[in-house]
This record gives sequence, structure tokens and C-alpha cells, in this order.
Amino acid sequence: MSKINPFQPNSPVAPGMFAGRLDEIQALEKGLEQTKYSNPMHFLVTGERGIGKSSLLNYLKPLADGSIKSPDFERFNYILISIAISERMSLVTLIKLIERNIKRQVGKVEKVRNFLDDTWEFIQRIKVMDSGVDKEQSSEDPDLIIDDLAYSLSRTCSRLTAPEKDEERKDGIVFFIDEADNASPELRIGYFFKVLTELLQQNGCNNIMFLAAGLPDVTEKLYSSHESSLRIFSQLKIKELSPEDRYYVIDRGVEEGNRVNDEKTTITREGKEHISTLSEGYPHFIQQFSYSAFEFNNDGEISAEDVLSGAFNPGGALDAIGSRYYASRYHEQIKSDEYREVLSIMAENMNAWTTKKYIKEKFSGSEQTLNNALQALTSRKIILRNQSKRGEYRLQQKGFALWIKLFGERKK
Ligand SMILES: Nc1ncnc2c1ncn2[C@@H]1O[C@H](COP(=O)(O)OP(=O)(O)OP(=O)(O)O)[C@@H](O)[C@H]1O
Ligand SMILES: [Mg+2]
Repeated sequence: MSKINPFQPNSPVAPGMFAGRLDEIQALEKGLEQTKYSNPMHFLVTGERGIGKSSLLNYLKPLADGSIKSPDFERFNYILISIAISERMSLVTLIKLIERNIKRQVGKVEKVRNFLDDTWEFIQRIKVMDSGVDKEQSSEDPDLIIDDLAYSLSRTCSRLTAPEKDEERKDGIVFFIDEADNASPELRIGYFFKVLTELLQQNGCNNIMFLAAGLPDVTEKLYSSHESSLRIFSQLKIKELSPEDRYYVIDRGVEEGNRVNDEKTTITREGKEHISTLSEGYPHFIQQFSYSAFEFNNDGEISAEDVLSGAFNPGGALDAIGSRYYASRYHEQIKSDEYREVLSIMAENMNAWTTKKYIKEKFSGSEQTLNNALQALTSRKIILRNQSKRGEYRLQQKGFALWIKLFGERKK
């Protein structure tokens, strides 16, 4: 009989297996508390692919809407609006999504539904032109649209926080805006946040919190569309999980597996150590190595060998991680074996600065080829050139470095 694998390398983690992030959760809960008492705070969660941004957002949702009570605060009672930004999303689509989310959640009572229809009536007036390639462009000035949005949101939020008779009182609204790095330049996301938060404040609306998440380059996107937009947000940079947190994830996973399967599974101390070390704390590596070890094990006890086979065998964890996150960059964007050799040499130092001299000593090709490689990899933003120290380079992403490093070890 096949066993249900409790590890989830392909989706944000279930609350029961969620590990760590105590400081971030504390900061976010404090933000909820402040916003509830009319001192709104906004957060920007940044971190590499697969580091756990969406998982953190998902963890906060049941706390924010009161499905779960946080030990440190009274039960919150927010309306949640969850939106993932896509590359093609226009301002009009974004605003329509906001409207739709609000109506879905609070428009069940007829009286409130009528109020919402009235308050969000401006959306019906926005004329949309088809500007090709799936893009909707409004003929109306974006400033006017944002102004209308701010007004409608403020009215909605006032009604929620100071409701009429028989209506439930809410703490306010929390926006969860994931994948913000996808925002196209036309969406002008920095400008959007900056202007919207200022207008909300002017309209006396102080119970709305924005929580945005994205890859580290989201900060440049925000900055380039409005220089001071970053100042709205407290930034939470998500890092690797500590060894204790890694063990916690593995233990909870094994427990969960034993809860749902008749056949019981254990894991040896060495098995856990291997997952912890190989993953270097990258959550998606932990989940994938654990998943593959669980799959590979066939005697009820996950041993160090199961972990290694699950990780390095063809079709195992490294292949899965590669095809999910990195392989296209490694195999398609980097066509030459020599360039890949340069990356492998650099990956030995993970994403720390590495001198060209060091690379040259280990590199099998000519200096000219090395120069070309460094040039090409820099222009593709796969590696970074040290602006303050000549002749130093590093890999942009630690997760990518780890994958290349482990990939190299497979051959040995
Ligand atoms: N705190 C955590 N505890 C346990 N597992 C986690 C944690 N955070 C993330 N994971 C696991 O790591 C993987 C990636 O998580 P998630 O999708 O949240 O990352 P992300 O930063 O949103 O990635 P992306 O950049 O692709 O959107 C998932 O398998 C998830 O289950
Ligand atoms: Mg995500």
C-alpha cells in the first residue's frame, strides 16, 4: 500500500508544520494590533525563491481573521484581501480584484451589499480599452482611479469598523499582496502604494494594513516607480531556518505521516542531520529532501542512506528542486559548459564574494573565456560584480548556489 507523503515541497507549508519566523510573526502581530487601534503599519516581506514568503503570509491569515487566537493579543477580526500580482496585471484588474474580494466577504447581507454596490460604483464607469496582448488599459487617468479607490476603501472600512445595527464589527482590512515582484512597470506598484496609503490617511481611514511579499528585487521595482514608496513599509527579510527549526519541520512531518498512515515511519538522528546539513536551512530544500527520503525509504525507518539516495538519485530531490526553480537558468540561459564550470567554482563559496584570481586558478579554460563568462553571467544578473572592490564576483542567490554545489557533488 502506498503511503501518504506528509512533506510538501510544492506548496506553502500547512500551519501544523510551520517552523520558526518568531521575530517576523511578532512584528506582524504588532502591526495588526497597531492597525486595529488606528495606527496603521505596512510590511514588505522579501526573500529568495522558496525561502517561505507565502508560507509566512498564510500563517498570518487565520490570526488576522480570528480563526485562531494569538497568545499575546485579543482575537483579531479583520477582513482579508488576498491577491497575487501577475506579470500582466493592470491597475484596473487589480482594483476589480479588490472590489470582488470585499464584496465576496462582506456582501452577504442585503443592506451591506447595497451599500457596497453604491460605494464601488466608480468601477462600472471605468472604460477599458483592449491594448493588445491580454492587457487591459483604462482610458482614465490612473490618479483618478486611485483616488476613487481610496475613497471607496475608506468608506468601506468606516462601515466595517463602525457598523450599523445588527452588523458585525471588524478591526479593519488586511491586504495580502503576494508575488509583488511580478508587477509590470505599467502597474507602477510603488506609486500605487504610496499614493493610496496617503489618500487613505487623508480620508481618515486608519485601519488598513498592507502586507506585500516578493523576491528581493521587489524593492527596486517599488523604488523605481516611486522613490519614497519603500518608506511606507517595514521590511522583513526572510532567511534560512535555524537547525532547531529544520529538525522541527522534519519531526512534525514524520508525526503527520504517522497520523494519516497505518504503516509507521521513524527517522534516525543521522537522517535528520543529513537533511539539515544538505538543506542549509532552505525551507524548500528541507521539504524536498524530506519528501524524497520518505519516498525512498521502504523499511519503516528513514536512514542517512535513504536521505542521500532520495537527494542525489536521478529523479530525486535535486532534480525536483532544479526543475522547479533553477534548471532553466542553468541549462537554457547558460549554454556553455565553461560558463557552468565558472558557476560551480563560485558555488563552492555559496554566494560570498570570490576573486577572479581564485576562479582563474581553478578554471580549466583560457583567461579570455573566463572574462567572457564573467561578463555574460553578470549581464544576465546570475552573478553580481562587487561595486566597491574590483575583480570580485558572487552568485546572486544562495539557494541557486546551494543547488549548483550539491549538483556538482552528485558526480563524485
Ligand atoms: N516556516 C516554514 N516551515 C516549514 N516549511 C516551510 C516554511 N516556510 C516555507 N516552507 C516550505 O518551503 C517551500 C517554499 O515555501 P513558500 O512557497 O512559502 O516560499 P516562497 O518564498 O513563497 O517561494 P516563491 O518565491 O517561489 O514564491 C514550501 O515547500 C513550504 O512548505
Ligand atoms: Mg511564494
